[in-house]
Amino acid sequence: MSLTEQRILDALKKVEDPELHISLVDLNMIRNINIEGEKVDLDVILTIQGCPLKATIHDDVVNAVKSVGAKEVEVRFGSMTDQERAELTARLRGGQPGQTEPGAISPILSPESEVTFIAVTSGKGGVGKSTVTVNLATALARLGKRVGIVDADIYGFSVPDMMGIDQRPTVIQDLVLPVERFGVKVISMGFFVEDNSPVIWRGPMLGKMLRNFFSEIHWGELDYLLLDLPPGTGDVALDVHQMIPQSKEVIVTTPHATAAFVAARAGAMAVKTGHEIIGVVENMSYFECGKCGEQEAIFGQGGGEKLAAELGTTVLAQIPLGQPNYDPNDPNTAPSVYEENSKIGSIYLELARNMIN
Ligand SMILES: Nc1ncnc2c1ncn2[C@@H]1O[C@H](COP(=O)(O)OP(=O)(O)OP(=O)(O)O)[C@@H](O)[C@H]1O
Ligand SMILES: [Mg+2]
Repeated sequence: MSLTEQRILDALKKVEDPELHISLVDLNMIRNINIEGEKVDLDVILTIQGCPLKATIHDDVVNAVKSVGAKEVEVRFGSMTDQERAELTARLRGGQPGQTEPGAISPILSPESEVTFIAVTSGKGGVGKSTVTVNLATALARLGKRVGIVDADIYGFSVPDMMGIDQRPTVIQDLVLPVERFGVKVISMGFFVEDNSPVIWRGPMLGKMLRNFFSEIHWGELDYLLLDLPPGTGDVALDVHQMIPQSKEVIVTTPHATAAFVAARAGAMAVKTGHEIIGVVENMSYFECGKCGEQEAIFGQGGGEKLAAELGTTVLAQIPLGQPNYDPNDPNTAPSVYEENSKIGSIYLELARNMIN
């Protein structure tokens, strides 16, 4: 079959913008296709200049055009005009029905939204909320779900570092695209502060920022949106309760009896606000000796059970102590994401599977 513009376009329809997950053809990014024998040249018009994923787009386009018979492919890059960008962002907002003007309630928060919200909470600091959030999200993505994380710990954001994210979100006009890592879309205050400087906002500003994380972010289609909450039952927890009444909750505790006691307060708050508690994750449950396989209850025992009984729910998982294999030079690893086939990684997969059912 000879090379035709139509065949090239058909092939390129399968190539998506890596961030928007919409075909380059649908985005009208492919222009001026020229065919001379087995040589093809074309323009790819990027949404923004200096698009961080230019190299990926280049390779995907070249491979697609070669797949229909081209021997040589030349790609020229350009970027959209302000007018084109404005039309695109309007269209992307349109893809979130109901969102017409900035500040309007995002449909991702509307009662019709089919996204399952899961807030990860604990009452107490340092028990592993963020670790559970990033690993549960990654496990859900590994099972083929479309997943996002809102790092709702505005002051103490940690998700980007834990997932090994070093890039910033792409911004098209005033539309912010979440950063994707391990198939999970992430938004965090950490993307918007310079050099890890402290965030000093209070009260109403916090709520506003959190709301922006829903309404001003192009989430696209999602099955699950996980919220990593700050410790305690403070402002942000209240904001979440009000903003997302349909949110479900996972409560994280350590096995120690007093940790469970404190976590019960977070649980009591969920009960009061009518949030459905999915269950309890007991983290740092035990240490398994690498040599003999014996399990030691270093941080005590029974905290998860006790908390679950108190809240009338169940223990969803017991996660042992352990660190992922992290190699700073290996982009497939991250400081706090367990590998899929590791012991703890498989516990998270099981947790995710149960959650889906
Ligand atoms: N199962 C585990 N084994 C070993 N270390 C763990 C485990 N879970 C969490 N940690 C470590 O414990 C520390 C606290 O975890 P994490 O930041 O997830 O807790 P957090 O509840 O989100 O804390 P904060 O309340 O400050 O937000 C981190 O250094 C994390 O790497
Ligand atoms: Mg945390």
